[in-house]
Amino acid sequence: CGIVGYIGNRQAFPILIKGLKRLEYRGYDSAGVALLNGDMTVFKKAGKVIELEKVVDPNRLGATIGIGHTRWATHGEPNDRNAHPHLSQSGELAIIHNGIIENYASIKAELERRGYVFHSDTDTEVLVNLIEEVKKTENTTLDNAVRIALNEVVGAYAIVVLNVNNPDQLVAARKGSPLVMGIGDDEFFIGSDASSIIEYTKNVVYLDDQEFAVINRDGTYSIRTLGNVEKSHAIQKLEFSLEMIEKGNFEHFMLKEIYEQPKAIEDSLRGRMNASQGWIKLGGLDEYINRIDKAERFIITACGTSWHSGMIGEYLLEDLARIPVEVEYASEFRYRNPIIRDNDVVIAISQSGETADTLAAIELAKERQALIYGICNVIGSSIARASHAGSYTHAGPEIGVASTKAFSTQVSIITLIALQIAQVKGTIPTSKMREILYELENISKKIEETLLLNDQIKEIAAIYKDANNFLYLGRGYNFPVALEGALKLKEISYIHAEGYPAAEMKHGPIALIDENMPVVFLATNKSAYEKIVSNVQEVKARKGKIIAVVLKGDTQIAELADHVIEVPETEEILSPLITIVPLQLLAYHIAIMRGCNVDQPRNLAKSVTVE
Ligand code: G6P
Repeated sequence: CGIVGYIGNRQAFPILIKGLKRLEYRGYDSAGVALLNGDMTVFKKAGKVIELEKVVDPNRLGATIGIGHTRWATHGEPNDRNAHPHLSQSGELAIIHNGIIENYASIKAELERRGYVFHSDTDTEVLVNLIEEVKKTENTTLDNAVRIALNEVVGAYAIVVLNVNNPDQLVAARKGSPLVMGIGDDEFFIGSDASSIIEYTKNVVYLDDQEFAVINRDGTYSIRTLGNVEKSHAIQKLEFSLEMIEKGNFEHFMLKEIYEQPKAIEDSLRGRMNASQGWIKLGGLDEYINRIDKAERFIITACGTSWHSGMIGEYLLEDLARIPVEVEYASEFRYRNPIIRDNDVVIAISQSGETADTLAAIELAKERQALIYGICNVIGSSIARASHAGSYTHAGPEIGVASTKAFSTQVSIITLIALQIAQVKGTIPTSKMREILYELENISKKIEETLLLNDQIKEIAAIYKDANNFLYLGRGYNFPVALEGALKLKEISYIHAEGYPAAEMKHGPIALIDENMPVVFLATNKSAYEKIVSNVQEVKARKGKIIAVVLKGDTQIAELADHVIEVPETEEILSPLITIVPLQLLAYHIAIMRGCNVDQPRNLAKSVTVE
């Protein structure tokens, strides 16, 4: 799941290890490096990068060229054997690979027929041997062999290849999985994202899909397409700093990112609205507004947390802009032959901008002529580039695997989208628009206030940390928040948690409620308040333990609940931006008390570039 590479005058190993550690947040289960110093040396190990550091031979680390990898298992279990790099049969080539080779089985069978023996269960070992076979039979250079081999491959990949007979060159290629090249003084860095490169150089070139780069020790490089057409890409400057991706005074990235939300939301709104002047202006939306305001339907597609912000988007767009919206899991949407009409607008939401399921969904929608609007956090990411128009969330790098500030900035962007369309269509009164904009301008202060509840939430966490199950209930705008709160807890504490519409609870999950079931209620709604009070009563009557997030000064629910978390009042349509905060903190503290690795929860990856 993470790729690093180096060629230059310095010792490669420390640069590779540091780079791998910077990529740790993406989630992985094994790590390895290949170093070229006369001969090829490979060290690899299941587990974290520190495990790898324990097994390296300090006398064999002199190389000035090398590649490193952290793997998130797709084919074959996470063990030493399946860890990358993988060597070709003759030992001439070493490869690291992110992604999946879908037709590996047929290629493997053919290679086996030609006498190749495989030592791992991975599709990657198949690929490196295919490259070797092409190189041998065509009697050609490594870069040519890579190009020819990749033309035979179906799937997604970012790869870097080393050749024992050419210690002055790295060959890298990508399709559907990100790869960036950092350009230093007579040295080059490769990374699956820029965080592994940024401390060495801010000058980078992003490879596009179906392109490969030949990178030479003499400071030259060339980029070609798999069709062998020469390409030249402008060198881009990285905008974020190392400090932005470091933890600062916080113990974990997740906590830091929870606390960064007020600022992240301000950054996401900056220059895009003004309450006293009453305007909203998203550059990306402006460009296509004539098509977007005629849209008969919006389809929002995303995965995970981004899907939850998409659901809030559904409520907002229907409520404010009066346009029908469907929210689709990208993976389901893509493979069920969906109906996409000419006047549909597809909104794709993705923090990383690299999620393979979401990318596949928008590719399908594009083929069917829909307009694609991307909401991404990572600048220059694949989804951002594949969209016709879009808005960046500007949350800054999100390192914790469990998404927090990306979620709240996605919600603030969708709020702006809904408001801007509503303004153009005249579907809400100007006075109401102003009120909402004022509230939006002040929302960061209210989130700051909510963050002050941290100690209280920690106390609640201590009481329920050993629970086996949790239920999260909310109505209206707070229903997607319930889903997201449950997801946070699941992801980082491994407690089973379910989010449900508060009223729907009586049609099923109510059977689960007894004195051992903590139930988190999101009860800040002014509309349907009495209804949610009844839902609280239904849980209370069955002895469930009630943790209620309520508006400051609430008395009715406070009387029924075991614990109340009082949050500041805002416009109901903006309430998710506030009510999610205590749920993020609750999940965080419970996970810490259970001894879990909150920044890198087991089995999860920050960006999932496989379908
Ligand atoms: C992974 C992450 C989730 C994330 C989802 C979508 O599964 O673990 O936290 O919500 O992907 O990611 P995206 O980058 O597309 O928002």
